[in-house]
Amino acid sequence: MSAKTFGASDPRLETYVSQNFHAEDEVMRMIRELGESRGVQQIQVSACDGLHLETLTQMVGAKTAVEIGTLYGYSGVRIARNLAPGGRLYTCEFSESNAQVAREAFQIAGLEDRIELLLGPALETLPSLQSKGPFDLVFIDADKKNYPAYLDWAIDHLAPGGVILGDNTFAWGTLVQSDEELRSPESILIKEAIHRFNTRLAEHPDFVSTILPTGEGLTVGVKKSH
Ligand code: DHB
Ligand code: MG
Repeated sequence: MSAKTFGASDPRLETYVSQNFHAEDEVMRMIRELGESRGVQQIQVSACDGLHLETLTQMVGAKTAVEIGTLYGYSGVRIARNLAPGGRLYTCEFSESNAQVAREAFQIAGLEDRIELLLGPALETLPSLQSKGPFDLVFIDADKKNYPAYLDWAIDHLAPGGVILGDNTFAWGTLVQSDEELRSPESILIKEAIHRFNTRLAEHPDFVSTILPTGEGLTVGVKKSH
């Protein structure tokens, strides 16, 4: 067994990263406070995970991106402000009230011209993006039971060298718990869906994939370009 741990074992390390890498700037703080003040459920990515999204967006040199699960725009701003010049983010949100807050967030960030919000169930709105692809980055962070369906769409519309990101892919630890240990049928379904998502990427011959051990697990799959 390796002495190296998987993920940061000491919570002070997150504080270290957050402070020294300036994980949440003034714009992101304003947007988070907007979401809080409008009563949006605070399930957006953490400040450090926001920074991971920014870094990964730059790393792939993404110009076009799709986000599934806008919430109130916190992660979308992280992605959109790192897209290449002339780039565009398409972000899908089920909830009209979340979408209203997100549109304000995009204005606060000055990004309303490079983000297009698609309102409604993503599986119904994604087909309209067919002609805008292929995409360099797809971030999946919506209803967990549909992760495999979102992944199918992402695989079909990703450019070579592009990246698929999936949030919460440790499934709150349920991945390694037996069905007997899990309390609700719902959590078993979520565990199964996220497991299918992870293993489909892990086994896909066109992808190199891993789960970065962030607090909640961030699956990263890169479509091979050679
Ligand atoms: C939940 C969903 C998320 O995407 C997340 O990052 C955290 C929590 C949830 O449904 O509880
Ligand atoms: Mg999430």
